[in-house]
Amino acid sequence: MRLCIIGTGYVGLVTGTCFAEVGHDVVCVDNNAEKVRQLQAGKIPIYEAGLEEMVPRNVAAGRLRFTDSIADGVESSDVVFIAVPTPPQADGSVDLSFIEGVAREIAGCMTQYKIIVDKSTVPVKTGEKVAETIKRYNKARVDFDVVSNPEFLREGFAVEDLMKPDRVVVGVLSQRPVVAMREVYAPFDAPFIVTDINSAEMIKHAANSFLALKISYINAVAAVCEASGANVVEVAAGMGLDKRIGRQFLNAGIGFGGSCFPKDLSAFIKIAEQLGVDFRLLKEVQTINDGQMDRFVKKIIETLWVLKDKRLGVLGLAFKQNTDDVRMSPAIELCQRLLKEGASLRVFDPKAMDKAKSILPPSDRVEYVTDMDEVPTGCDALVIATEWPDFTKLNLERARGELAHPIVFDGRNLFDKAEMERMGFLYKSVGR
Ligand code: UDX
Repeated sequence: MRLCIIGTGYVGLVTGTCFAEVGHDVVCVDNNAEKVRQLQAGKIPIYEAGLEEMVPRNVAAGRLRFTDSIADGVESSDVVFIAVPTPPQADGSVDLSFIEGVAREIAGCMTQYKIIVDKSTVPVKTGEKVAETIKRYNKARVDFDVVSNPEFLREGFAVEDLMKPDRVVVGVLSQRPVVAMREVYAPFDAPFIVTDINSAEMIKHAANSFLALKISYINAVAAVCEASGANVVEVAAGMGLDKRIGRQFLNAGIGFGGSCFPKDLSAFIKIAEQLGVDFRLLKEVQTINDGQMDRFVKKIIETLWVLKDKRLGVLGLAFKQNTDDVRMSPAIELCQRLLKEGASLRVFDPKAMDKAKSILPPSDRVEYVTDMDEVPTGCDALVIATEWPDFTKLNLERARGELAHPIVFDGRNLFDKAEMERMGFLYKSVGR
């Protein structure tokens, strides 16, 4: 099928590339002409496993191209996906001006029937607004349908999640676009759910908020584990074997971050509030998440006492493993909190150091180290801030020798507690 994706961020670029990979004819649009030029030259602006090979392969096969013209994209396609940002606003709601702007532009250049699909995460009822907007600005009176098709990909596993989705959700105002949407997703072997547009939009917010709730739940359990001497990792393992619960998203740590969960949670609370519903449960999820960082910083201060003039090694800057994304990263927040307490940092991340430098600039108190095993050198303690599996390969013998004191604060429970203690570390983790 001929598909257009507007927006080449994490969602748009990965979606467009995967659609091309399965044989669709795809044009990706971005209003940042420089980014388009880079993509045309084969430069991928984000790190996402598999993407670097897939983009040039599909461009060479003639199935994928990039343009900065919405008119070009709309003209060359039957189905137009909107994958532009919906950034958070101060009051917790999201800014829908990019969606509205793109909807107007699409409307202005349609010359024949189009299906316009919203992939961005948006509040319930946005699809209805998009349909109204297109109708209003569609001077040529061209026929169209609006569809909601939320994206569930996880950064770092985006290609995998797109190629093998758990489900495809399609929200429609009428049955007419369903056949085409089935055709778009036919190459992907996944349950295909057709529902109304409001429910589709709600599925996304309800799913993400539930996952955030799961993390806050286990973090709250971790606090009780610490107070009682139980081990949250063992507790999560025991809980997770119940199929109704599942083991995933039960990893206690320094809290969730990233560009989705914090924003989607605030937005869902705000949407409910605007509809007259006080979603207190989700407010508590936020409170627990904020408290998780406080508890971890307190643990460091209680152990090291005064942080002023102490040097800490920090492993991890990305908001989670397998990504170079540092937006709303708990690891960066942790670094900022430690700096505020007067500490100096030696930091390392396998992929996110370049992006981190714009928010955490290198200075006499922030030193970027290119080799993970050199981070502990001359530090008073080591802090694990991101759940990169690579960190478990740290040379612990060497770290113990290089640290001024063999102290490790593990904010992601990456190491075996008994083994760390056997090696002589003072080892503080979360909920154990
Ligand atoms: C999330 C959803 O998983 C995805 O379906 C949606 O489309 C976008 O939002 P993403 O933000 O990429 O994806 O990351 P995810 O893997 O969900 O992790 C989010 C945050 O939760 C990270 O900071 C991670 O470290 C944290 N987390 C995750 C935990 O603290 N514990 C866990 O058990 C799982």
